Amino acid sequence: METTQSGVDAAPPGDDGSAPQTTRVGVVRETNPGERRVALVPKIIAGLVKQGVQVVVEAGAGQGALIPDTAFTEVGAVIGDPWPAEVVVKVAPPSDAEIAKLSAGQTVIGFLAPRNADNKIGALRDAGVRAFAVEAIPRISRAQVMDALSSQANVSGYKAVLVAASESTRFFPMLTTAAGTVKPATVLVLGVGVAGLQALATAKRLGGRTTGYDVRPEVADQVRSVGAQWLDLGIDAAGEGGYARELTDEEKAQQQQALENAIKGFDVVITTALVPGRPAPRLVTAAAVEGMKPGSVIVDLAGETGGNCELTKPGETVVVHDVTIASPLNLPATMPEHASELYAKNIAALLELMLVDGVLAPDFTDQVLADSCVTRDAEAEAKTDSAETSVDTTDSTADTSDSSVAGSAGKEQG
Ligand SMILES: NC(=O)c1ccc[n+]([C@@H]2O[C@H](COP(=O)([O-])OP(=O)(O)OC[C@H]3O[C@@H](n4cnc5c(N)ncnc54)[C@H](O)[C@@H]3O)[C@@H](O)[C@H]2O)c1
Repeated sequence: METTQSGVDAAPPGDDGSAPQTTRVGVVRETNPGERRVALVPKIIAGLVKQGVQVVVEAGAGQGALIPDTAFTEVGAVIGDPWPAEVVVKVAPPSDAEIAKLSAGQTVIGFLAPRNADNKIGALRDAGVRAFAVEAIPRISRAQVMDALSSQANVSGYKAVLVAASESTRFFPMLTTAAGTVKPATVLVLGVGVAGLQALATAKRLGGRTTGYDVRPEVADQVRSVGAQWLDLGIDAAGEGGYARELTDEEKAQQQQALENAIKGFDVVITTALVPGRPAPRLVTAAAVEGMKPGSVIVDLAGETGGNCELTKPGETVVVHDVTIASPLNLPATMPEHASELYAKNIAALLELMLVDGVLAPDFTDQVLADSCVTRDAEAEAKTDSAETSVDTTDSTADTSDSSVAGSAGKEQG
């Protein structure tokens, strides 16, 4: 594929000089155990087909999300082998076996876990595949519609509350019945980013008395806006790009001590605290768990990066000191219908940014594409850098190490 002066990769014209063929997009059937989402859903495919995009869906790709093959063909997709398509869209990072099905020149879009040490970005680059990691889409207003971390974090935050409610030995709402009055559950959410804010809102809707805590002080207003109280521990650790920085050892000790005292008073604690590229911060110590009332529940959403609670066993539910500690992994996959719908909207928006009249032509002077593309080869990089652009793309050649992850927002979470 040629790169033009503006850094735009133009699709080659047809052999007879005719207009280039519109892009073919392949939707694969996910193979990760427990993964029930699908990268594009019929409603979204209909819009792409209207733009002239050809969509090939692997048989059974929608099965986990209860979408039959016929729902895809009804909107103009065809059922077939998606792997030779010019663009392959996925949810989970591709396995080695899946990468072996790809050839040089193809494009892959999906969660690629750019900050995980064992990610497959190097293998994709070696295969000559151009890969876009949704985790590396910059957190700027224009890219909100493509922000898959946010769309899936919303699902996780919501579902975490349902897990807590179902593990709890107590009601969430206040109940006044002939048999007596039940006090509402007190719910503390530690780490109030996208998932935490959704957890607070959901717990409130269930009737819980909610409190939120974060190390970014600007979150206080957002916490109050969903009817929760703000727990102020006096630590300010706002980092870059809207994320938190890691605390110093002194701050960690101060935070753990203060939380140990605060946590005792809550029936439910939901933790969602993450620092990009770092192990999850330890917020809930074993002593804090011991101090909770028997029957209390902790739901730890940070299990994939080690957990926010000292006693968390990622992927398991354990009971310690009569406190239930649940650490479910990949909660979005447990709500595949809506999680897929939201993710599909994110993927389509990113894809549309790369299409010109239905033809793949990514403009790497666009910050969103430059940041999210994690395997651009050195040649394309050099051509783009020499083109006139005010956008800094120096970060866009990702490596597997933390320091060279494409873009500023890459982090693992699915
Ligand atoms: N396009 C956009 O503008 C856009 C889109 C999505 C999110 N955002 C913003 O990005 C920010 C990060 O959101 P996220 O959900 O990805 O965050 P995240 O998943 O990285 O972390 C979750 C929360 O944990 C908090 N945290 C980290 N260390 C902590 C500690 N030691 N103690 C307590 N809390 C701790 C973080 O401050 C964050 O609020 C938010 O401000 C969010 O509103 C912006």
